[in-house]
Amino acid sequence: MKTETVRIGIVGGGLMGREMASAFARWCAFIDLPVKPELVAIADPMEGPRNWFKENIPTLELAAESHTEMLAKGNLDVVYVAVPHMLHESIYIDVLEAGCDLFAEKPFGINLEAAQNIQKAAEKNGRFVRCSSEFPFMPGAQAAFDYVKSGKCGRILEAVSGFHHSSDLDPTKAANWKRQSKTCGEIGVLGDLGMHAFHLPIRLGWKPEKIFAQLQHGYKERPDGRGGVATCDTWDNAVVHSYAPQEGEDPFVLRFEMKRLAPGATNTWFFEVLGTEGGVRYSTSNPKTLEIFERTDKQYWKRTDLGFEMPFKTITGGIFEVGFPDIIQQMWASFLMERAGLLEDNFSCVTPEEAVYAQQLYSEALKSQASQTQS
Ligand SMILES: NC(=O)c1ccc[n+]([C@@H]2O[C@H](COP(=O)([O-])OP(=O)(O)OC[C@H]3O[C@@H](n4cnc5c(N)ncnc54)[C@H](O)[C@@H]3O)[C@@H](O)[C@H]2O)c1
Repeated sequence: MKTETVRIGIVGGGLMGREMASAFARWCAFIDLPVKPELVAIADPMEGPRNWFKENIPTLELAAESHTEMLAKGNLDVVYVAVPHMLHESIYIDVLEAGCDLFAEKPFGINLEAAQNIQKAAEKNGRFVRCSSEFPFMPGAQAAFDYVKSGKCGRILEAVSGFHHSSDLDPTKAANWKRQSKTCGEIGVLGDLGMHAFHLPIRLGWKPEKIFAQLQHGYKERPDGRGGVATCDTWDNAVVHSYAPQEGEDPFVLRFEMKRLAPGATNTWFFEVLGTEGGVRYSTSNPKTLEIFERTDKQYWKRTDLGFEMPFKTITGGIFEVGFPDIIQQMWASFLMERAGLLEDNFSCVTPEEAVYAQQLYSEALKSQASQTQS
């Protein structure tokens, strides 16, 4: 089998930059995958992240202080960018203008206008661009998606798609760029967690209407990490209510939940669809367990534990558990396979059109919050 090696550079060596680097480092887990990432460059103005990459990534050729230096010297095929949201637009566009393909991070620009500008730059430069959203690669999420697509729900009555965590509940946690609108975006938690909640509904072709949003702030002040106090003004929790049209039937009730103040939750991604004939429920809180509703002579919720049922086969035993690093790796396999024209029927990452559409819905939610009426 011929394997294509793809030269990758990362801009931003923080939480997600390192997570992606570790996914590449364990690529030997894949069986017969004809694409292979080679991480050759990092760009980050901070010495700490650069040193981490120098110490841990044997294939690294370049550790640059700026993305422009990296793009000029790196001879790169693909660039993954994981930086604060106010930097997305300019850095993504520089990557595209430099002739590289882009694996972007959510929310794909600090606001709708930025997202549209990134999409235009991708089209103008003819580059392959996708945006990160890994939770749909969980076997339970894939099974739920396939179940809904099959039509087994019958007439859909209601659906909820969400993402909860509780990292912001600790008031002594120092503020970072995610806590302020100027760096995280006016959309706040909608942008921070929205892609997780909107990816599958958008992929299913659902078009939310009559959006009514309920947004909540978190703590108004936090330690700034330097002995002072920082003002925090982003939305921390968002519940977005809507109706979604379905052919030949009344619209169904569609709700999105994105919360950074969800007591007890740690990265809980969940998706539930209820219909007249069937239903499906999945949450990463019970990461192996898929629940399916059946109506025959009686009504049943059936539970099944899933194994390591991934789109791209690995050496991992079929009954083993799936975790966050695994779905990050599967998402990258999907990105690289699609880029190589080899994806076939496998699940693909968020497209620029989907990312822009999600941003349109966040804008609608902000308008609804401002007026407290349906938009
Ligand atoms: N897919 C996911 O599950 C997931 C999870 C967390 C964050 N994210 C997204 O990833 C992105 C980054 O978030 P994070 O949590 O990794 O942030 P982070 O704060 O941990 O890391 C950001 C890094 O960017 C660097 N940086 C700042 N300015 C830069 C510049 N001009 N050029 C290069 N590097 C620069 C910082 O020094 C830092 O190392 C955001 O878009 C965020 O929404 C995605």
